[in-house]
Amino acid sequence: MSIRRRRFLALLVLAGTCAALAGCEMVSHPRSTISPVSDFGWAIQDVYEQIFWWCVGIFVVVESVLLIAIFRFRVREESHERPEQVHGHTKLEIAWTILPAVILVFIAVPTIRTIFAVAAPAPQDAIRVNVTGEQWFWRFEYPDLGVLTANELHVPVGRPVEVSLHSNNVLHAFWIPRVGGKRDVMPGRTNRQVFTVQKPGLYHGQCAEFCGASHALMRFDLVAEDPTSFDRWVERQKAPPPAPVDARAKEGATTFLTAGCIACHRIQGTPSQSTIGPDLSHVGSRARIASGILDNTPENLARWIHDPQAVKPEAKMIIPKKLSENEIEALVAYLQSLQ
Ligand code: CUA
Repeated sequence: MSIRRRRFLALLVLAGTCAALAGCEMVSHPRSTISPVSDFGWAIQDVYEQIFWWCVGIFVVVESVLLIAIFRFRVREESHERPEQVHGHTKLEIAWTILPAVILVFIAVPTIRTIFAVAAPAPQDAIRVNVTGEQWFWRFEYPDLGVLTANELHVPVGRPVEVSLHSNNVLHAFWIPRVGGKRDVMPGRTNRQVFTVQKPGLYHGQCAEFCGASHALMRFDLVAEDPTSFDRWVERQKAPPPAPVDARAKEGATTFLTAGCIACHRIQGTPSQSTIGPDLSHVGSRARIASGILDNTPENLARWIHDPQAVKPEAKMIIPKKLSENEIEALVAYLQSLQ
């Protein structure tokens, strides 16, 4: 084998390995769209796989014919004659018109069937969640369970969930890649999505429709847990948070009520009852803050309270008075205590 050929082969193997590794990364990625964890996701994945294999078949046939044509009809050194010129071939033309039409029918049938299947009404025992897209966070309300929270959606594994999607501002789109497809969140119209998560875990959600400066920072988490843990979570959410115990947190509670936070946030069991901003009753128990963009650590909370717009451009959070470092520290201690 010539050196050139050997080099070409080595490059081919390298490219193949890179492609395979990239594929592994895509499958295990928390926002992977090809490793579903719900019935809704699998319904879409099945259609995707069927279309994928049709495409592989078409690719192989077309490329094989192309390669045969290139090698068989290439210019040969010994012959300088013009090859036979062919114009039109009725049988071939009929074949390549009918064959793609037949393939399209095979693709259309499962696609349409899936469209109707995923739009079917939710079963009676489904957990209903009202989801509201805000600029830029997500509000989650469970009307039958009496729970109001934000940015962290909890669902029990194995039980259907019906989310009703609302917006009072601009367009958003509700999307949890590992659970299934996107669904628009539109002012003046309620869209729905029904799914049953089959595998416990923490999955990432993302707004998938441009909705302003911080669209890319409008994320959320989906926590899928066993039914017992979910029931425990519901009980905790329904109850007010424990009163702050340590002095710093107590100081923070006073700051919260006097610094203007009360104008937008709700904390159960306190005079702060506004629902303009995210509900903070149990914010200390959430894994992330600022709608899924920062880990819930004292440093990040302080960073957020210090200057929300520096973390999330054009964030609507306004702090009416300039807070001292001391006040911010106390507020952080209070918010962290809201378990
Ligand atoms: Cu909300 Cu993009």
